[in-house]
Amino acid sequence: MSDLVRYALDGSVAVLTVDNPPVNALGIGVRTGLKESIERAIADPEVDAIALICAGRTFFAGADIAEFGKPPASPTLREVHEMMESCSKPIVAGIHGTALGGGLETALACHYRIAAPGALLGLPEVKLGILPGAGGTQRLPRLVGVEKAIEMICTGEPIDARQALQMGVVDALAEGDLRDATIDYADYIAAEGLPLKRVRDRDRLIAEAARRPEIFSFARKHYAGARRNFLAPQHCISAIQAATEMDFEGGMRRERELFNELMASDQSTAQRHFFFAERQARKIPDVPRDTTRREIKAAAVIGAGTMGGGIAMTFANAGLPTVIVETSREALEHGMDVIRRNYERTAHKGRISERDVETRMALLTPSLDLADVAGADIVIEAVFENMELKKQVFARLDAVAKPGAILATNTSTLDIDQIAAATSRPEDVIGLHFFSPANVMRLLEVVRGEQTAKEVIATCMDLAKRISKVPVLAGVCHGFIGNRMLHAYFDQAYALLYEGCQPRDVDKAIHDFGFKMGPFAMADLAGLDVSWRVRKETGQSQPIADRLCEMGRFGQKTGAGFYRYAEGSRTPRPDREVTAIVEEEGLKRHEVRRAIGADEIVERCLLALVNEGARILEEGIALRASDIDVIYVHGYSFPVYRGGPMFWAGQIGLGRVLETIKGFHDAGHGDVWQPAPLLERLAAEGHSFQDHDQAGG
Ligand code: 3HC
Ligand code: NAI
Repeated sequence: MSDLVRYALDGSVAVLTVDNPPVNALGIGVRTGLKESIERAIADPEVDAIALICAGRTFFAGADIAEFGKPPASPTLREVHEMMESCSKPIVAGIHGTALGGGLETALACHYRIAAPGALLGLPEVKLGILPGAGGTQRLPRLVGVEKAIEMICTGEPIDARQALQMGVVDALAEGDLRDATIDYADYIAAEGLPLKRVRDRDRLIAEAARRPEIFSFARKHYAGARRNFLAPQHCISAIQAATEMDFEGGMRRERELFNELMASDQSTAQRHFFFAERQARKIPDVPRDTTRREIKAAAVIGAGTMGGGIAMTFANAGLPTVIVETSREALEHGMDVIRRNYERTAHKGRISERDVETRMALLTPSLDLADVAGADIVIEAVFENMELKKQVFARLDAVAKPGAILATNTSTLDIDQIAAATSRPEDVIGLHFFSPANVMRLLEVVRGEQTAKEVIATCMDLAKRISKVPVLAGVCHGFIGNRMLHAYFDQAYALLYEGCQPRDVDKAIHDFGFKMGPFAMADLAGLDVSWRVRKETGQSQPIADRLCEMGRFGQKTGAGFYRYAEGSRTPRPDREVTAIVEEEGLKRHEVRRAIGADEIVERCLLALVNEGARILEEGIALRASDIDVIYVHGYSFPVYRGGPMFWAGQIGLGRVLETIKGFHDAGHGDVWQPAPLLERLAAEGHSFQDHDQAGG
């Protein structure tokens, strides 16, 4: 018998305990163990009921994603479920931790379900570009109704145990020890002779929905907008619709067909790559898992501007007391007001309660005295982007921060090593590069200085998870990973304007590719004045953007930038004034303006990202190509269904990518199109960036 499933008797209850760390994924070993244990329980005359529980931190977190793409091995999950549902003795699932995907589907194939109060239950398959393929699209709507099932399956968001009880997904909540509660419940069901409830037999809710087919057209339209270009949500809706149009067996067949289509799709391949990429990014080869961590109980943020305010909110959201230091009372009050207003807006939308607003505000202590950071275990500096100023701040921090405190800078471009050199403890200095708005964006670039201590890195990687961020390690260079690549992307976006495009042409092509917005709408959102100031300071120019700034067009905040914005609106409207400037400046560089198609726009902008990404990888600034993918999806809205720029390049084929890049070089689009040596090498070997990652870089 498989050693992943333990079999024990407790009175007349057979207790099956699955133990497959870390998350009890339902791989072939577990499925075999379940099948054998259930057969044994059925055959044992002493057994009246079966309790199914999991050891460790969670109930089944789903099918084993590592088995995807391999030929299915028997018993399949569906075969195990079939056996469970038709079992002559009641089976009760005892759920703790997270019952996700195939895990929840397994629970739904049991006759009864009992959950620990803290449990979460969900069908997150859509996030992997697939749909629940072991009956979830057929059983869940039978339990909770079609509308709720659509919402759970198309968003992939879990519900908690209390909601699950209310919605009828579980039959009871466990008080006290879950194992005991599950056994008692199973015992009670057998003793009382309660019916073997099979979800497949419940037809009332789906019969009701069958009379309202408009539910499905409405849902299709909704998710076509909310999850633009994603295949999986649409297939999920089709599978749920099948539950209302066919009998259970027919619905299961339709679910399987749709599941197979998705599994074979490029989108799912990309999303599964991304699932592992996110988890891989947390691993740093020379910073092992057992590296000592420093305790973080209190934080401080220097600067209450755009970034400082957002960073402080992030800490307060995670329950960490945080001091916010400013230089002037005015700036401090303004910063605190903005934070309060942000929280109140969130409360107004019903996402947090009024009490949460006050609890979080109470965690924030405003101060005008840098010495008040003395109690902080981590200090994050977010003052103006100026090296001399940052050095001064770090020299003072060195004097006032407690020994062992982590001293972090949020700089987006400056050399962390120079900043660290302003202190007597460079090993405690690190870059924590948040993205704007810092309380919303999930990406965190963790920038490792030459002398940053391993335990400082390990602590920051853990802290990121605590404050709900996705951390990616980067080395020191101008712009680190994300912004250095973005520079190459923007250069091409501008070049396209000079050659023949208008901002809306570039933005449309990039938006259609799957980004939330194109480069010029993004520039308008971020504000054109910041880079204008930098260009003036460094003697550079970008004539189109410079002219817009000279006219006071700084983007959304002034109602005009590359586009025009109606009062109070964020919708970009093309503007004739800009069209004329673009044409005029273009003709100064090129004799004629040419028509440029969407394909070239996408290739110019995105292959520039890939080529620069390859250089960054070769220089060791990024540990892996997949880390770059994580940065672009979380920090720059690269569509996750394309896996990230480096994965996308692999799907095109690096040979073709290289040819296109060489073509741009030959066409005179500039030295940036000199192919990165790593790209040339991988293309010549017939390898992808993923192969490079797997080979250890
Ligand atoms: N299959 C294989 N490995 C899995 C897995 C799964 N379903 N879920 C998690 N893992 C692995 C992770 O890759 C990670 O491995 P590593 O340590 O080697 O990097 C390890 O388990 C721990 O995972 P996390 O780091 O994510 O741990 P957390 O505690 O942060 O989160 C979790 C736990 C919430 C369960 C999270 O892992 C998660 O969301 N897992 C995926 C759940 C999911 O998508 N389930 C659906 C699978 S598809 C399916 O079931 C198809 C079915 O319908 C037929
Ligand atoms: P900001 O101008 O909005 O805020 C800076 C704040 O620092 C101001 O409120 C200022 O009064 C305060 N300040 C200046 N000197 C100080 C001192 N000695 N002590 C305490 N406070 C001081 O700037 P923003 O945008 O928040 O940027 C801050 C840092 O974050 C910069 O290094 C920037 O490069 C970086 N960054 C900015 C991003 C953005 O999108 N704005 C994104 C990521 C990083």
